[in-house]
Amino acid sequence: MNATITATARYLPDRVLTNFDLEKMVDTSDEWIRSRTGISERRLVAEGEATSDMCAEVVNRLLEKSGKQPEDIDLIIVATITPDMLVVATAAIVQDKVGATNAWGFDLTAACSGFLYGLETGSKLVESGQYKNVIVIGADAMSSIIDYTDRNTCVIFGDGAGGVLLEPTKSDGGVLDSMLFADGSGRDSLKVHAGGSLHPASKDTVENRMHYVQQDGKTVFKFAVKNMADVSEKILKKNGYTGQDLALFIPHQANLRIINAAASRCNLSDEQVLINIEKYGNTTAGTIPIGLDEAVETGRIKKDDLVLLSAFGGGFTWGSVLLRWTES
Ligand code: ACO
Repeated sequence: MNATITATARYLPDRVLTNFDLEKMVDTSDEWIRSRTGISERRLVAEGEATSDMCAEVVNRLLEKSGKQPEDIDLIIVATITPDMLVVATAAIVQDKVGATNAWGFDLTAACSGFLYGLETGSKLVESGQYKNVIVIGADAMSSIIDYTDRNTCVIFGDGAGGVLLEPTKSDGGVLDSMLFADGSGRDSLKVHAGGSLHPASKDTVENRMHYVQQDGKTVFKFAVKNMADVSEKILKKNGYTGQDLALFIPHQANLRIINAAASRCNLSDEQVLINIEKYGNTTAGTIPIGLDEAVETGRIKKDDLVLLSAFGGGFTWGSVLLRWTES
């Protein structure tokens, strides 16, 4: 028995932060940001709006689309690096907010690869036969950990959430295969240093701005270009496919140049690649499920299509998931 995605949904906050807004905040330019990253604007949560609020919107939209009730949900997995708080799990808060009284849930931390890690975990639990309605969400309120005086990071990230409902299918489609990796030796290249057990919050950690994302952009860039392209090519080959067989490639949206490198390695045309980075920037765990929902809504994915999802992120973490779409 396979697991398959039977509904998709996304939530983007209303507040827009454009490149021109950022020009007034740090020493940057719209031209630099667009040419180096492909980003024009990004969304930010409202004051007091947390990751769980975005996730609850996603779950409510999934329920509406699938015709399910909150009590039908068995499990909620939230991939995020911006939980509402360290304790309690965001998934538990979401469970309460949507009234999913029969669900358990947990958070999963794998930065921008989080949604793919969650999709693999959720699929395997569905395939076990024990769970029938599993929700996997990728959500991040990156604005809560971004230093808006640091031009190296503040131009890249945005807030947003997306998610899917996984159910069992008797067809041979659905989630076909995955290849997922981690290499923690890359942990210094992209991190939020303080607030955990290594450097608990203190006056010093706050004064040294250690609760914000710190990134060695060049190292992350090189890692991403090589590994997202490698894993995308490998999973296709492993399953006997080439880029020609793909209806759509949905890569993590971190930098247009990284996306183009992976697409070109798989010999994909522009029509085969989902790109929405110009509107939202990098929403970390949110980018792939947001892209997936946009693709379904605009008819870019149809029944029986082969779809490839690929990501890389802090850790390092990276991987791909291959899908055969089963919904019409
Ligand atoms: N505006 C203007 N100039 C800038 C900006 C900015 N926002 N940021 C950096 N610069 C300057 C640098 O200071 C440097 O100036 P210098 O030559 O005088 O020293 C120059 O631009 C070039 O800097 P580079 O770092 O070489 O620029 P690069 O082309 O590598 O682009 C970027 C930087 C966009 C960060 C790129 O390296 C990148 O995208 N890296 C990957 C980041 C990424 O994907 N992160 C997300 C990972 S996913 C996750 O898990 C969250």
